[in-house]
This record gives sequence, C-alpha cells and structure tokens, in this order.
Amino acid sequence: MKQMFTPAKIKEDFPIFKKVMRGGNRLVYLDSGATSQKPFAVLDAERDFYENHNAAVHRGAHLLAEEASLAYEGAREVLAEFINAQSDEVIFTKSATESINAIAYSFGNSLPNSRFALKPGDRIVVSELEHHANLIPWQQLAKRTGAELVWFSIDDDGRLDLSDIKNVISETTKIVAITHQSNVLGTIVPLDSIVDRAHAVGAVVVLDACQSAPHFAIDVKTLGIDFLAFSGHKALGPTGVGILWGRAQYLNEMEPFLTGGSMIESVTMTEAKWAPAPKKFEAGVPNMAQAIGLAAAVKYLTKLGMNNVAQHERELTAYALDKFAALQGVKVIGPKDNVNRGSVISFTMDGIHPHDVGQVLDQYGVAVRTGHHCAWPLMKKLGLVGTTRASFYIYNDEADVDALIASIGEAQKYFKV
Ligand code: ALA
Repeated sequence: MKQMFTPAKIKEDFPIFKKVMRGGNRLVYLDSGATSQKPFAVLDAERDFYENHNAAVHRGAHLLAEEASLAYEGAREVLAEFINAQSDEVIFTKSATESINAIAYSFGNSLPNSRFALKPGDRIVVSELEHHANLIPWQQLAKRTGAELVWFSIDDDGRLDLSDIKNVISETTKIVAITHQSNVLGTIVPLDSIVDRAHAVGAVVVLDACQSAPHFAIDVKTLGIDFLAFSGHKALGPTGVGILWGRAQYLNEMEPFLTGGSMIESVTMTEAKWAPAPKKFEAGVPNMAQAIGLAAAVKYLTKLGMNNVAQHERELTAYALDKFAALQGVKVIGPKDNVNRGSVISFTMDGIHPHDVGQVLDQYGVAVRTGHHCAWPLMKKLGLVGTTRASFYIYNDEADVDALIASIGEAQKYFKV
C-alpha cells in the first residue's frame, strides 16, 4: 500500500508545487485544513466545461444545455457514491457554511406542526469543538425560536466529554449539530453514542464533515446521521461549491432556504409549489463548473482510495507527533496520541506569538495557519489567543514534516527562546 501511495508522485499532479517560494524555497504546504491544493484533473474538468459544454443547466433545448445538464447531474451521482447516498439526497450549495445555514434556516421556516419547528424549551446541542460555521447558525436559530443552545465540553486532552450525555442531549433536544473532526485539535468525535442518544430522544443529527470527508471514507448510512455538510475546496475541489446531504424523507418535508427559479414545480402570480429535493434546495442557475470540478476531485480521491488516504495521513501524523514530542518549548494542543485523531497538529511555542511563528516558517516555504482558526470559543476554553496549525494531506510526506520541524528550530533561534 505504501508503494501505491507516493506523495512525491502525487505532487506532480498539482501545478502549484512548481512554485518557488520566499528565499528560493520549495512549497511545503501544511494548510490543507484551510483549503486544499487542486490537481490538474480538477482544473481540466472546469476548463473543459467552460470550453466545450457551458450552458445553464435544466433550461434550454439546445445541445449545450443538454450536455451541461448531463454533466451536472453526473457530478451529483459521483458525489452521492462518494458518501454512499442516493443522488436525490445530494444538494450542491456554495459552501459548507451555506449548507449548515440552509438546514438552520429551513428549520426556522418550518410551520408550527412540522417535526423541524422549534419553540421555547426545545434544545439544540453543539460542542466546544465547533468552528464558527457550525456554531453561529445554531446560535441564531436558537435566538429566533427561543430554543436553548447547550454544548458538550472538552477534556484536557481536547476530547469530547460525554460523561453527561443523557443530560446534555435531553428529552427536549431537537437538533444535535456536531463536528466530525475538530479543525483545530484534530479530535475525531465518537459519533455512535451521540447518534444513538439523539435518535432515542427524537432529535436529528447534523454532521459537519468539513475536516473528515476529504480525509477518510464517509458512509452516511453506516454513520446513521440525518444531515451532513462539507466543502468542496478542502477536498481538492474548486471554491464556491459545498455539499448538503440529508435523508430524502426529511429533505422532502423541509422548507427551502432560497426561493426562485429551478426550485419550483408550478408558479402563479401569488403562489408557488416546490419541486422535490434536490431541486427544491437549488434555486437559480447553480454552480455548474464547480460541481463538475468537485466530481473530478472526488474521482481523484477515490482512485487513490479513501482508506489509503486515511492510512497515509495516520502514518504521517504519527511521524510528526513523535518529532513534536522531542521538541523543547513546543506544546501540542489537543490529543497527543494518534488514536481517533486526524492529520491536524496545533501547537504553541514558548515565548513566540503564533503569528510570528507563521511568519518565520513562511521564510522557509512552510505554509501553516495561525490564529483562532474560526473557533474563538474553543480558544477561550483552552486559554489561548491562538495556535499554529499544521494540517497534512495526500501530497505531504516525511520531508515536509522535517521541513516544518527545522523551521520551528529556526523560529526559536530567531527569537532566542
Ligand atoms: N475552517 C477552516 C480552517 O480550519 C477555514 O482553516
């Protein structure tokens, strides 16, 4: 398996790795948690769409409209297979943020007798691990409906504390919205007990898969969740496209988020009837080229094999955690072992602010993210202003980790700590 998975060979599929960075250094890209780089296959798919098939889908009787519609619906099939869903359950949005907002707004727009309607006394459950995209939409929904927002805390190792799960996911809980993997700490959340308890009280589970779907195999049926969101651009795909998956039965009962063209079955001057899902949730001319680019991305990942991707990242993370353990004055924030954690390592350095760390690393071509990582409440809980975060993906190898560790040493020398 190791032989099949060769990051140096994979890098050749990504034109950006030819770029010469500051100081003549090669690019050591360790910021895939923020956005991934894009292979030729994705760039070519978008270009081919615009060069040869561009037309507005589901409108027009001409050849291009037919080809564009086939390509767009084909992309939906590819994405459905990627997460083991039915294709009519897969909705293209502009981002994971939009996907989560779409669910929250849809619930907020529900008629009072709907299973999704919230009222004072109902509960929405999140966790301290959430990034803002899976927190603020629920805060807002709670404010609009009078529901209460409750959350799971984390322990000292950055893992969810589920010891009080029955009280947190109380009988009044309607929604449990939870990250699959923390974008800051790499913690992978134990979903089984959360899904079991949520369903036992009649709540739906919304899974934020932004940091998991690009990195390991997702099977919505096995996970037993009800809704899932992830962004295309973190999974080798273009920006401007996200996925919202929901159980068909729920999608068909839900109110749309955006209204307008394409999402209707019939319209009069005063009324409109919604088309069935997924169309009901795709108002307007959709992001066709981006959806087709994302399909090319997941085909690329599928060819590598998601289990191979996960194993490669696990091995690389183990290698990196060993190196970090040997460093003086550097602290890994979050799980220190490689159990139920993804390929994200956040760390702090004694005597150096994360932004300064990032700037020194950049002098060596090492690209990392610094700051609060769009997870401000988590930072507050950890008592930190921010961290430096290295996140690994298919194109990273041990040489990239070595470059990171060497540049950390340079930062210590520069700041004399
Ligand atoms: N949520 C993205 C990150 O973790 C932007 O960097």
